[in-house]
Parts: sequence; C-alpha cells; structure tokens
Amino acid sequence: MPFKPRHRRPLSEMTKIRSQVAGCGAYLPDRVITNAELAGRLDTSDEWITQRTGITQRHVAAEGQLTSDLALRAARRALEAAGMRGDDLDLIVLATATPDNTFPATATKVQAMLGMTKGAAFDVQAVCSGFVYALSTADNFIKAGQAKNALVIGAETFSRILDWEDRGTCVLFGDGAGAVVLRGVPSEGSNAERGILSTHLHSDGSNYDMLYVDGGPSLSQTTGHLRMEGKEVFRHAVQRLAEVVDEALEHNKLSYGDVDWLVPHQANRRIIESMGRKLGLPPEKVVVTIDRHANTSAASIPLALAEATGDGRIEKGQLVLVEAMGGGFTWGASLIRW
Ligand code: ACO
Repeated sequence: MPFKPRHRRPLSEMTKIRSQVAGCGAYLPDRVITNAELAGRLDTSDEWITQRTGITQRHVAAEGQLTSDLALRAARRALEAAGMRGDDLDLIVLATATPDNTFPATATKVQAMLGMTKGAAFDVQAVCSGFVYALSTADNFIKAGQAKNALVIGAETFSRILDWEDRGTCVLFGDGAGAVVLRGVPSEGSNAERGILSTHLHSDGSNYDMLYVDGGPSLSQTTGHLRMEGKEVFRHAVQRLAEVVDEALEHNKLSYGDVDWLVPHQANRRIIESMGRKLGLPPEKVVVTIDRHANTSAASIPLALAEATGDGRIEKGQLVLVEAMGGGFTWGASLIRW
C-alpha cells in the first residue's frame, strides 16, 4: 500500500510567503532649526556643520508633541498609501530609542490610536539601526505565518535627549517618523520576485560606550543625554556598513551593478557618499535627506523611503538596498525588490 498522508497540508505551509511593501508614509514636525539659528546660540557655524556632515537644518518636535504623535501621523499616511485601515493590521513593530515612556511600548499607544484590536504591537531598540531591525522582525513574523499585514515604524524625538550645549552632538540630530506597511503575499507568479529578499543584522556590544545615553531607568533614574566618540563611530560605520552590504548582495547572488537605489541611514553625508562610491552608484541613485532632516535615527530610512516613493523615484520592480549602523554598535542591511 502506498503511503497516503491523512491530511492535506494547508496552502500557507506549501507556498513561500514574502513581505511586500504596500505603502510608505512620513511625518516631520513643523518647527525647523537652521544651522544659522544654532550658530546664534553655540560656538559653531553653518560652514562647519555643512562641510563635516551635509546637514543644513533639522525638524524639532513642539513642546508636548511626543514620539507616538509623530509615529501615528506617519503610520496613517503609510496605511492610506497601502489602502488599508488600522484593523487590517495584525502586527506593529516600532523602532525607537526615544519612547514616550519607559514602558509600555510606544507601539501599543499607536495601536490603540489606529483602532487596531488584534495581533501584537511592541517596540524594538537598536538606535539608528532600529528600522532595519524592525523590518527584519516584521518580515520574519510574516514569513513564519505569524502575521499577515505589519506596520513597521521608525519614530524619534532625539531633541529630548540632546545636550544642547554640546556642539559636537546637538547639531547632528533631528526629530521625525516614517512608516512602512508590509503585506504577506504568496511568492508566485508576478509576485515571485517582489518583496523583501533578505535582511542581515549584526551587533557588537564591546563598543557600547562609543555612542550612548548617560542616563536610564536602571542606571540613574533619569533620561540622560546622548554622548558619542564621533571619529570612532565614523570609522566603524564605514567599515561595518561595507561588510554588511557585501553580505546582503552575496546572499542573493547579486552584484553592485544590480542595485537601483541606495537608501542609507542618514548620519553623515560623507558616510553616505563613501557607500555610494563603493557600490559605483551615481549620486542621483542615492536617496539623501540628511541635508534637510539631519540624523533622525530609526526614522531616517522610512522617511527617505517615503520621499523617494512619493516623488516616483523608486519604481515597482527596482532593487532597493537599505543599510544602517547605530549605537551598540548595531548594524544591518536589507535588499527589497520593490
Ligand atoms: N562646530 C564647530 N566645531 C566643532 C563642532 C561644531 N558643531 N563640533 C566639533 N567641533 C570641533 C571639535 O571641537 C574639534 O576642535 P579641535 O580640533 O579644536 O579639538 C574639531 O571641530 C574637529 O572635531 P572632530 O570631532 O575631530 O570632527 P570630525 O571631523 O570627526 O567630525 C563628526 C565630527 C561630524 C561628529 C564626525 O565624527 C561624524 O559624523 N561621526 C559620525 C557620528 C555619527 O554620525 N553619529 C550618529 C549616530 S551613529 C550613526 O548614525 C552612524
């Protein structure tokens, strides 16, 4: 007698599921602080900031405007672009290093405000790499069949953890939020190649004190301020990002020439340009927002994605490479066939 299985396997077990980007959204607070305004209160200049970092201005949240407020606005725009509502979601992963409260997760506040009643919502903390970590987490939930429609948010109010007297750090950061809706689709037919191809995450805790906040609930019962060894961070960023980008391309048997768009974390124009040169990409194929947004940590990549999809630069079928590095150190990259 030939062996006969007692039950047919459900379709979800037979068909590979891929996470496709269904929509992007972004939000920046109204208040803009220019380099000239900073130069009026600190020993710095527009020339120094622009030359060393590429930053000309940053957005800063209004008093009382919280990370959850920025996240909610970006999330609503991403849902609208995806043609979905809050109750279509079954997962929210929110990347932030500046949550509203120590707990609960800011993601749960956004969940309630979106009217999402099922599934799970939680925060991830990987500082400037947060969006890539959150994207990877949501992608794995979807591929495992544990979620169908996921909202991935990067939202920050770094202005609240800056030492505004420290010219070496306060000129570098800004506030904002970006969001991406992911939809799980069977990887077949015209959808076979589209979606997140892979994500690659790394960390090295031996560099914990290169970029950190000098307070916290357990350490000091205060929020604290951002501290950084700028030169060391720069050196590690260039090296680690080059490694993880190679890893992502090799994993997918792709080469530099296959990349249509580089959407990097926006920390410093010189770091971004060095990656563009490595990949052999012309500057117009690198999405740059650092000049206007400064470094918005976990929000910088989804903000850049929303901009470059909103103005039609990134098109269906193109290969998008995202990469980031942040405190920890943490770093990662993802390849997305749009
Ligand atoms: N205005 C004027 N002068 C300044 C300022 C400022 N805002 N900040 C520092 N300086 C001075 C320093 O005091 C120093 O003066 P000195 O020579 O008299 O001592 C001089 O400028 C040079 O300072 P460095 O720190 O050596 O300048 P550097 O060229 O390394 O640039 C910077 C500093 C822009 C922070 C750079 O190291 C950098 O971008 N590092 C990466 C850090 C980063 O991006 N962090 C973000 C989080 S991690 C991430 O997202 C990847």
